[in-house]
Amino acid sequence: MLQSRSPLCLLGLSLMIATLSAQAAGLSSEHKNFGKTRDGTPVEQYVLRNSHGMQATVITYGATLQALEVPDKHGKVEDVVLGFDDVQGYETGKAYFGATIGRFGNRLANGAFELDGKRYQVPQNDGSNALHGGPQGFDKHVWKARPTQGKDSVGVTLTYRSADGEMGFPGNLETEVTYSLNDRNELRIDYKASTDKPTVLNLTNHSYFNLAGAGNGDVLQQLATLHASRYTPVNGTLIPTGELAPVAGTPMDFTKPTAIGKNIKANHPQLKFAEPKQGGFDFNWVLDAKGDLGKLAADVSDPQSGRRLQLYTTEPGVQFYTSNFLDGSVKGKAGKTYAHWSAFTLETQHYPDAPNQPGFPSTRLDPGKTYTQNTVFRFSAQ
Ligand code: GLA
Repeated sequence: MLQSRSPLCLLGLSLMIATLSAQAAGLSSEHKNFGKTRDGTPVEQYVLRNSHGMQATVITYGATLQALEVPDKHGKVEDVVLGFDDVQGYETGKAYFGATIGRFGNRLANGAFELDGKRYQVPQNDGSNALHGGPQGFDKHVWKARPTQGKDSVGVTLTYRSADGEMGFPGNLETEVTYSLNDRNELRIDYKASTDKPTVLNLTNHSYFNLAGAGNGDVLQQLATLHASRYTPVNGTLIPTGELAPVAGTPMDFTKPTAIGKNIKANHPQLKFAEPKQGGFDFNWVLDAKGDLGKLAADVSDPQSGRRLQLYTTEPGVQFYTSNFLDGSVKGKAGKTYAHWSAFTLETQHYPDAPNQPGFPSTRLDPGKTYTQNTVFRFSAQ
């Protein structure tokens, strides 16, 4: 009997067991249409649910986290991420709401880098710099998707093949991003990539969180802890100086729970670089967890709703950005508008401009090697 079981049959069996255990744990998923892009490409929407009312919605446009319903201390569910109700919002949007960012998250000085003596140029879409992989980054493509099941989670795996030379980056790059939800209220994002030529890579997710609910005011009273004793200070175009500076004695010190708004308007040159008019945070913090997924990297809570978000990651850094460029002019989900400081991001990443910064951890990926990145957003309410 045993020899008649092909590997395919065993795979089917283990998938079935995973499905049954996921169902037993109260997890479910479904997918449906989410409209079409301007050029007529269909976009799908995957909805992952757990038994505590948490629900994560991912769309294939930009491998984007489109919605994230999370219960508060009374069990009341709210969508805690900014976004749009239709594909057109994402196609025309410039804020990267919920998107998967690639090939290179954050900035590359002058859009350029050198690899093995050769210079590469990425289109400059942020003044003289390249931001988030250039104007047609991973956030502006429709990904392929398939439903997945883990031992104790439901998920969706999205894939995208970026051709050699796309946005100036070398190598054909195969990228895979899996979102999964379990019954411990953890949304996990796992990234994988491989290349056929040496290249650089820095993938992240650009969700904008407001723990009071997207569009429900600003996040200035929400309490943030960043387990980071250093950050990477920047110049006037938000390119790191190369220094890893202590946060102690600066508004960047979030080592203890601190209201996001407490020092946001402080008269500090770094805050002026991030947002010259009103101030704001938009920096990379050097995480003390040093890539240990078991160690808490950041912790944000909303005293009003009781919602709490704890962050774990294999990445050495996190960009904590307080949506300084939002100004209420964009209409988001359910007709709500998103004002200045109405959300924060926790973009887990390698440090900005790493290919041009010899002192920073390397972002190089070689053929035959697999890039991985794992990030967990754990939600609770108290
Ligand atoms: C990142 C950058 C910000 C801003 C946003 C997108 O967080 O660091 O400066 O460009 O993306 O608006």
